[in-house]
Amino acid sequence: MALNLGVRVGNLQLKNPVMLASGCCGYALEMEEFFDLSLLGGYCLKGLCEGGSEGNPPPRLCETPGGLINSIGLQNIGIEAFLKEKAPKLRKAGSVMVANFYGHSVDEYAAAAERLQAEPCIAALEMNISCPNVKTGGIAFGTDPKLVHEVTAACRKATAKPLWVKLTPNVTDITETAKAAEDAGADALSCINTYPAMAIDVERRAFKINTRSGGLSGPAIKPLAVRAVYLVSKAVKIPVVGIGGISTWADAVEFMLAGASAVQVGTALFSNPLAPLEILEGMREYCARHGVEEISTLTGAAKDFERPSCNLPSRTK
Ligand SMILES: Cc1cc2nc3c(=O)[nH]c(=O)nc-3n(C[C@H](O)[C@H](O)[C@H](O)COP(=O)(O)O)c2cc1C
Repeated sequence: MALNLGVRVGNLQLKNPVMLASGCCGYALEMEEFFDLSLLGGYCLKGLCEGGSEGNPPPRLCETPGGLINSIGLQNIGIEAFLKEKAPKLRKAGSVMVANFYGHSVDEYAAAAERLQAEPCIAALEMNISCPNVKTGGIAFGTDPKLVHEVTAACRKATAKPLWVKLTPNVTDITETAKAAEDAGADALSCINTYPAMAIDVERRAFKINTRSGGLSGPAIKPLAVRAVYLVSKAVKIPVVGIGGISTWADAVEFMLAGASAVQVGTALFSNPLAPLEILEGMREYCARHGVEEISTLTGAAKDFERPSCNLPSRTK
């Protein structure tokens, strides 16, 4: 039986559903020493902005049970440097490149989208909206449906490339921001970014990372992310890309069953850079075992719990 691993995210065709998550694979060239990027469905670059950013001072990473808190502060080399130094090498990689980007104002977002639009090897743009808006005193764009609409609409005008909006889970109702992004013209939703978190060293009585709070990722957030994907995929018509603690093939299948069209692997790459290939192989075996011919049919296929029928002998009175 031939298995079709191909999936569509809006009008973008991926050869398989497994992608690398932004911030966990640098500018992807770093991963080439481990595997051929073209084996994957695609990869998301570290978030880029105009002018770049030095990020936060260390310590900016801290391990927690089943998780990782990071406060990198969106360090990046800037769009111009990326286009000049990295993009030419990536053109040969032969995989779907998604450029993650951000700004500190609506205008900065739109300008970034317009600049990235010019690079032919970028297949899609992924907006990181978990960033503070300087004009509203630092409220993250992604926490307010009105701001989500405004910034998405501005980027929509600025680019003809597929536009993915990466949702923050740091909201009361994620379906509100999801619908705002869809309404403003997003082609897909990446779901989700990290959860706000904190860790304190009790012996030193000191915060474990410089900025006190950071974003939690890894297996610890997986059930929260699966639920977010489920809720969002039910609330919108555009495709959802599932992210959050995926480290095994079963995690990836679970996200697809919850409603994801594709998945991204992030934190798992730090302990096992080969995780995406192992996940892909496991998904292939899962499909063979379950008679699945098109992997895309797994999207949203989770059923309600069924009590297993048990054939116990009927009780005699
Ligand atoms: C060190 C680190 C850096 C990250 N940088 C970005 C980034 O630049 N842009 C972005 O949208 N998400 C960024 N993320 C979030 C991840 O892409 C992903 O959404 C999140 O970590 C949840 O997935 P995971 O549990 O598989 O890591 C970063 C995550 C980590 C751990």
